[in-house]
Amino acid sequence: MSLAFTISFLYVVLFVSFKSNMVLCVEIGEFFPEERDALILIRDSLNSSVNLHGNWTGPPCIDSLSRWIGITCSNWHVVQIVLEGVNLSGYLPPTFLQNITLLSQLDFRNNALFGPLPSLKNLVFLEQALLSFNHFSGSIPVEYVELTSLRVLELQENYLHGQIPPFDQPSLTSFNVSYNHLSGPIPETSVLMRFPESSYENNSDLCGEPLNKLCPIQPPAPSPAPFSAPPPFAMPPIPAVKPNNRFQAWTVAVIGAAAALILLSLISFIAFLFRKRQTSGKEVRRDDSAGHVFGAWAKKMVASAGGSDVSERLGRLEFSNKKLPVFDLDDLLRASAEILGRGNLGITYKATLETGTVVAVKRLNHMNELSKKEFLQQIQLLGQMKHENIAEIISFYYSEEQKLVIYEFTSDGTLFELLHEGRGIGRMPLDWTTRLSSIKDIAKGLLFLHHSLPSQKVPHANLKSSNVLIHQDSKGYHSKLTDYGFLPLLPAKQNAEKLAIRRSPEFVQGKKLTRSADVYCFGIIVLEIVTGKIPGHIIGEIEETTNDLSDWVRTVVNNDWSTDILDLEILAEKEGHDAMLKLTELALECTDMTPEKRPKMSVVLMRIEEIEKMKKESD
Ligand SMILES: *[C@@H]1O[C@H](CO)[C@@H](O)[C@H](O)[C@H]1NC(C)=O
Ligand SMILES: *[C@@H]1O[C@H](CO)[C@@H](O)[C@H](O)[C@H]1NC(C)=O
Ligand SMILES: *[C@@H]1O[C@H](CO)[C@@H](O)[C@H](O)[C@H]1NC(C)=O
Ligand SMILES: *[C@@H]1O[C@H](CO)[C@@H](O)[C@H](O)[C@H]1NC(C)=O
Ligand SMILES: *[C@@H]1O[C@H](CO)[C@@H](O)[C@H](O)[C@H]1NC(C)=O
Ligand SMILES: *[C@@H]1O[C@H](CO)[C@@H](O)[C@H](O)[C@H]1NC(C)=O
Repeated sequence: MSLAFTISFLYVVLFVSFKSNMVLCVEIGEFFPEERDALILIRDSLNSSVNLHGNWTGPPCIDSLSRWIGITCSNWHVVQIVLEGVNLSGYLPPTFLQNITLLSQLDFRNNALFGPLPSLKNLVFLEQALLSFNHFSGSIPVEYVELTSLRVLELQENYLHGQIPPFDQPSLTSFNVSYNHLSGPIPETSVLMRFPESSYENNSDLCGEPLNKLCPIQPPAPSPAPFSAPPPFAMPPIPAVKPNNRFQAWTVAVIGAAAALILLSLISFIAFLFRKRQTSGKEVRRDDSAGHVFGAWAKKMVASAGGSDVSERLGRLEFSNKKLPVFDLDDLLRASAEILGRGNLGITYKATLETGTVVAVKRLNHMNELSKKEFLQQIQLLGQMKHENIAEIISFYYSEEQKLVIYEFTSDGTLFELLHEGRGIGRMPLDWTTRLSSIKDIAKGLLFLHHSLPSQKVPHANLKSSNVLIHQDSKGYHSKLTDYGFLPLLPAKQNAEKLAIRRSPEFVQGKKLTRSADVYCFGIIVLEIVTGKIPGHIIGEIEETTNDLSDWVRTVVNNDWSTDILDLEILAEKEGHDAMLKLTELALECTDMTPEKRPKMSVVLMRIEEIEKMKKESD
């Protein structure tokens, strides 16, 4: 066994940095949010035969990988957008590409895109712009002349009119504007003169050397009628652009508000990575093939126990659930394990014991100063919490170096993943009924904790969507809260700053914490569910101080654009709008700056049940 450990340990070390970065980044959202925002703008403006709306969720880039159809990444940046022949239809947002600054290839060939060609301003790395076989109209933007890296420009088979701008970048080696409605002389630059007739053929009124067609001596200077006249078959006006403006306006507002925050986050994230790099060498490892194992810490525990009767020397697991088959620490450490998540308090593993029992194991960091008595008291108390919306603690382990909490395993991921990540091909939209029932589950779980732990300052203290576990069965989705009750276990000096309540206004202002801080976190989850947006700071290990999501919702609602806040996935369920907005109102009360003004969880649950009734009646 110790040989097996050694071998898998070696594998694991190789795995460390990749795996840890990946988990982190999923948690962090995305490295370059303005690139993601630009793509989201495309996603939400166009229809296509690939389900972009379902697929383009989560971060576009994970280092140099992308899980988004048609997107290629390099070093966290989007460098290629290739959506060829996928029935992409609609109007491109006019300036969406500017923030994808490292873009080198744009390929929208063979689609049904209408309206003007996209602006490519400032895309100094763009090498290929492939926009042929679409329904683009208007003229070729003069700024294309300034794309100094441009090698290939394909614009053929559209409805472009006007004159060809004087392209003369030496990089340009392939150029095609045939089958359009272009007119006037082909500019006599050495670059444009090198392309053959077929690059220019079949345009209404183009003339010049490549076409063997002499231009009239006097171009019709005073009245450029033939160039500026509308194309023979007028394209429809550009209706789609208008509704988009508002969307863009608030997108920009949100980006603006979040920008400073993101910058701050990035800095601390980078600082964190540095710290992590230095310390993580001996941490996580994982064997890619069959049996994954726990980290080096587990190896060390076994090694320091030495020889035969391992569980005797290591100490036994303490069980709080008497109904489950008992297993000992040795069984646990021999289980195959994989990392489920990496949070502020420690790493969570999924462990499959040799008997087939599956459990979730949380290895707590930052609790070394804790005495055994304090730890036992709190965990035994938490071990008594039994409720359908609470993930049950079944066992735990305490030693000076290691503290493990073992939970029942819930199979279908977290609410965060359900809301924000596309799973498999073509994400199923998460409907309103499911969202409402999840909100109710969370409220029930939290109310139960508030009732059952009357003496605790903030009974949950770490409520966020990644700490809501999802279980799916024939009756639908069920939600369970996890990571609750850790506030009393954290050494006083760093008390709450590792927990979700650090985002509450009272924590930020250094005021006294009460259970209203849980209510605040609940309100944020509701807003996350209703808007489908990631609160700016569900950012794993990064300390943050404000909450842009509730601020943003408040601003939008006050401006009377209420339905603009709704997640597109539920926007179409018009009958539900009233209930969705009522729930938003409730969430805004829950996130009131003043803790005393927030409703109690019992009131919150009552109001949710009323909303649910209202929904049933309208169904
Ligand atoms: C695009 O749409 C056309 C007609 O609407 C259809 O025949 C074709 O199969 C579609 N292409 C794809 C790739 O779905
Ligand atoms: C996308 O398709 C839907 C239904 O097929 C249609 O109602 C909507 O107008 C289309 N949007 C665009 C931008 O073409
Ligand atoms: C680009 O991103 C910045 C913030 O990162 C934003 O203010 C700006 O509006 C974005 N530009 C476009 C064209 O989306
Ligand atoms: C330009 O495009 C047309 C139409 O697709 C094609 O027939 C022609 O061969 C192309 N010419 C060049 C030089 O690519
Ligand atoms: C353009 O092509 C179409 C068919 O492909 C042809 O009927 C038409 O005469 C051509 N026009 C010019 C100006 O060459
Ligand atoms: C998007 O689709 C691709 C290919 O179909 C798939 O590999 C990828 O996992 C999907 N991404 C998401 C986020 O669903």
